[in-house]
Amino acid sequence: MAKAFYISTAIDYPTAKPHLGHAFEKIGADCMARWHRLKGEKVLFSNGLDEHGQKNEKVAREAGLPPKEFVDQQAAYFQQAWAALDISTDSFIRTSDPEHMANSQKLFKKVFDKKLIYKGNYSGKYCVDCERFYTEKELVQRNCPVHGKSCQQLEEETYFFKMGNFQKKLQEYISKNKEFIRPETRRQEILSRLKIPLKDLSVSRASVQWGIPLPNDSSHTMYVWFDALANYLTAAHFGKKDFKNFWPCDVHVVGKDILWFHAVIWPCMLYACDIPLPKSLYVHGFVNLKGSEKMSKSLGNIVDPLELVQKYGSDSVRYFLLREIPFGEDGEYSEESLKNRHNLELANEFGNLVNRAFSMLEKYNNSKIPSSKTDKKLAKEWKAKEFAKKMDSFQFHMAAGEAMQFAKACNKFVNEKEPWKLKGKERDAVLYSLMDSIRVLSIALSPFIPRTCDKVRSALGVKELKWKEARFNLLKAGTVVRKPEILFNKVE
Ligand code: MSP
Repeated sequence: MAKAFYISTAIDYPTAKPHLGHAFEKIGADCMARWHRLKGEKVLFSNGLDEHGQKNEKVAREAGLPPKEFVDQQAAYFQQAWAALDISTDSFIRTSDPEHMANSQKLFKKVFDKKLIYKGNYSGKYCVDCERFYTEKELVQRNCPVHGKSCQQLEEETYFFKMGNFQKKLQEYISKNKEFIRPETRRQEILSRLKIPLKDLSVSRASVQWGIPLPNDSSHTMYVWFDALANYLTAAHFGKKDFKNFWPCDVHVVGKDILWFHAVIWPCMLYACDIPLPKSLYVHGFVNLKGSEKMSKSLGNIVDPLELVQKYGSDSVRYFLLREIPFGEDGEYSEESLKNRHNLELANEFGNLVNRAFSMLEKYNNSKIPSSKTDKKLAKEWKAKEFAKKMDSFQFHMAAGEAMQFAKACNKFVNEKEPWKLKGKERDAVLYSLMDSIRVLSIALSPFIPRTCDKVRSALGVKELKWKEARFNLLKAGTVVRKPEILFNKVE
């Protein structure tokens, strides 16, 4: 069996409900997963929840619930949100699932048996929100550099992982493999940080109960990141016969704040277990509120993706995020810009084109596709190669731009040809060109706005959307189509 294209997202902490930042990552990765399916590949797309550790334990306590009950309740919110946004997950890993817990223990034991884990004592500053230790040097005004909060002084017995053993090997690997970390600036960031000697990593906690017990010492629980990173193996059927059909992962999609864990700690863990490294990491930026204000629970300015879906529909929320913010960079959310993308591009360009074309076909040809060919000049406006190149390199904002450019060209074509003034073969040619172009657009746009494209597909009587059919003159003459309902209603 051919290996599946395996794409993963980070697994979220279920301490609060999912916000627009979490949604940005899932939608970007979903767009890529759908793109590969569109190209006819088998895909494994994984998401999940990072349910153990001190942070979850603390929030559960504050909510007055046992940790397991708390994460079960939170998991429902995440699954509801991803379903509402049409995230096409194949595997949703919750780290409190027994299968995953057993896998993490297996992994830990492998490293332990190789004598790469030893017992010692740790004394240092721990940020519960980051779930990591910081050195004095890394702190900013004695606070966590990410959350700006004071860190806990921890002094306890812990097991250490000799991560430093793999520093040289990893450095060489990252220097040689340009594709391993994308965008390139992130690869450089890691290479420069790897110039400093790696310290052994504390991989257990004696004072945290809500976690996976160590296989060699049940008085410690596993460091939550060791457990969380292993989720990528669980999703790939680790320990089962078909593991090789999924692993190595083709791309881990992660936010810039967790790059170190994925680019350094994870590869060292895999080296230690003789498991091949993932093929690549793609590091996305952050969604901030307009004016670059960070979205955070403490500022009370979290944007709930479900509320936006209710108002604009899931396709508009997806399209907005993918079109507005270059995936590898930070970008801004404002309702104004979401409304503009919805009204000006989805409703005025694509929606309007579909509505006009189907109406004219109904009026002039009883909704029957005439026998003709797509206008050559119009067909040239569709830059399939450019579109594919942009999709393959996570430049979703530009790929969507290419598709929208073509929709604009189609609307211009209607205005210039004025089919209402034409008759016979000339009018047939315009109608055929439009319907065929709509078919091509519905293929290209399907990773962005899957719900809408599926309506168009079904209206056109096409069985399945396939990338190899995103070229012209494939629409069958004689097919009777059914005009779809208005695709995007304008929001004032
Ligand atoms: N649990 C860890 C990840 C473990 S992966 C083995 C974690 N969880 S998180 O809930 O804090 O973040 C999950 C993902 O959401 C991360 O990739 C993070 O970068 C991303 N985002 C969180 N806030 C974000 C924005 N405001 N914008 C874009 N993505 C952001 O880290």
